[in-house]
Amino acid sequence: MTRTRIHNFSLSLDGFATGADQAPEAPMGHAGQRLHEWLVATRFGAPILGRRGGTAGVDDAFAQQHEPDIGAEIMGAGKFGPPGWQDDADWTGWWGPNPPFHTPAFVLTHRPRPSIEMEGGTTFHFLDAAPAEALQAARAAAGGRDVRIGGGPTVVRDFLAAGLVDHMHLVLVPIVLGRGVRVWDGLEALEEHYRIEVVSAPSGVTHLTFDRKAP
Ligand SMILES: NC(=O)c1ccc[n+]([C@@H]2O[C@H](COP(=O)([O-])OP(=O)(O)OC[C@H]3O[C@@H](n4cnc5c(N)ncnc54)[C@H](OP(=O)(O)O)[C@@H]3O)[C@@H](O)[C@H]2O)c1
Repeated sequence: MTRTRIHNFSLSLDGFATGADQAPEAPMGHAGQRLHEWLVATRFGAPILGRRGGTAGVDDAFAQQHEPDIGAEIMGAGKFGPPGWQDDADWTGWWGPNPPFHTPAFVLTHRPRPSIEMEGGTTFHFLDAAPAEALQAARAAAGGRDVRIGGGPTVVRDFLAAGLVDHMHLVLVPIVLGRGVRVWDGLEALEEHYRIEVVSAPSGVTHLTFDRKAP
């Protein structure tokens, strides 16, 4: 049975997974890079900033789980581009000609457009669909492998609320953002449905894994 997974999903102590005021020059708004400093310091994450090297400890061990056995990603319009990207017919995402997905990637948007085939195996498909329907489409495209829910927080919250997430890796970053987009609203008692493990890393972040209990 394939699974629906979330990886490397970073949130602040006060539960925000992105900042306020997202813009072309500030993809995560006033949060800047603070939610992902732990990630870009790792061997897995260093290439995101065009760096080489990186740490090979606990943070990297978790970060590396992002890729294996993933056959498709689902993301929200807010991850794919800054507010208003739908008005730019040439926008193909933040990641340049060869995005780091290398699978079909389904972008949930109320303003869908034709699919875009990128270099390196990523094809963006645009869907105006409920979470369960989007998951069905992603599963069909995933070649028998798992589907990753790539964020942002609005989409993660919606998939959790719909009971569609089997595995979730969260990274609690010891910062207080104060504003932005929250993950947990409306998800009261979510923990009852998951086996949860927690690992503190020397970098200061805390990794939490949620694995869905058998029904
Ligand atoms: N902390 C992390 O690890 C992490 C991970 C990934 C991304 N991010 C950050 O999170 C931010 C984006 O998150 P967000 O919560 O603002 O937005 P998001 O979750 O990426 O996308 C939400 C938007 O997607 C569209 N959408 C969602 N569900 C839909 C559905 N069922 N049908 C049709 N359209 C649907 C809607 O946009 P429209 O109505 O405009 O179409 C909605 O406003 C970015 O700053 C990104 O960098 C953080």
